[in-house]
Amino acid sequence: MKMTKKKVAIVGCGLVGATTAFSLETQGVCDEILMIDINHERAVGEMMDLNDSLEYLGRNVKVKTGTYEDCSDADIIVITAGAPPKPGQTRLDTLELSAKICKSIVEPIMESGFDGIFIVISNPVDIIAHYVQNLSGLPKNQVIGTGTSIDSARLKNFIGQLVNVDPRSVHAYSMGEHGDSQMVPWSTVTIAGKPFYDVIADNKELVGDVDLEDLVSKTAREGWEIYNRKGTTYYGIATACAGIIKAILNDENRIIPVSTLLEGEYGENGVYAGVPTILNRSGASDVLEIHMTPRELARFKESCDLIREYTARIMEK
Ligand code: 2OP
Repeated sequence: MKMTKKKVAIVGCGLVGATTAFSLETQGVCDEILMIDINHERAVGEMMDLNDSLEYLGRNVKVKTGTYEDCSDADIIVITAGAPPKPGQTRLDTLELSAKICKSIVEPIMESGFDGIFIVISNPVDIIAHYVQNLSGLPKNQVIGTGTSIDSARLKNFIGQLVNVDPRSVHAYSMGEHGDSQMVPWSTVTIAGKPFYDVIADNKELVGDVDLEDLVSKTAREGWEIYNRKGTTYYGIATACAGIIKAILNDENRIIPVSTLLEGEYGENGVYAGVPTILNRSGASDVLEIHMTPRELARFKESCDLIREYTARIMEK
């Protein structure tokens, strides 16, 4: 009898990869975690440290190190390796080097016979996810970028703080590029089902003077605000990635704004962008098309056009 184990490989054991592994381990999301890094001793050190947590956790998650050949039977492979931005750079500026690094990872993994799901964190994530999907030849549902999952979490935090509500009771998406051109379809934002516009109208003293455009740029800037203070981000993105993995491995049909390949949704074709996506055992199973106003749709299109422009630069390679 074949018992399927839930195996997740993490390529890149830097702070994001290691924190993703720790998040998976402490939440008991999977049965096995395979740590892979170009610096093998780094991977070994992370494995040893993660194993030291087991006594005080709820589940005996097996943490191992390995090579790309050991990925053949992985359910999910997380790619965190990429070029970190230099001060003053945007995520888009790291495209060429990140694409090169990802190419050197995906090719040997596909040679191992891997037929699971890639989750790409490496920035610029929308473009790198598309590049990985193209390189791997896997169907689009099996290659997912973390996209605006982290941006949406930040946006919900800011709105929750504004109206003094648990961010998990705020229903809001940031969509499009995981970057400066992302947008928020405010007409769809609700506080536990009450349209945010009505919340503003009914609570003028609390949020009457809120600047929605400022909230969008604050959300897009948050990663840099953290980067400038601690040199990188990892808790938020790692937990978002663990949430995506949980939705897939547990076949949850949970809707998370990840980066997926649009094929006609929102009038967009051939571009990876952050949109509300149904996640289950098949990966990115379907896109939930929310109804946006014409102006919101135009903003979303602008963001997709920017992603498309940068994607074209590496797809010819
Ligand atoms: C972030 O915004 C890592 O780009 C990711 O935290």
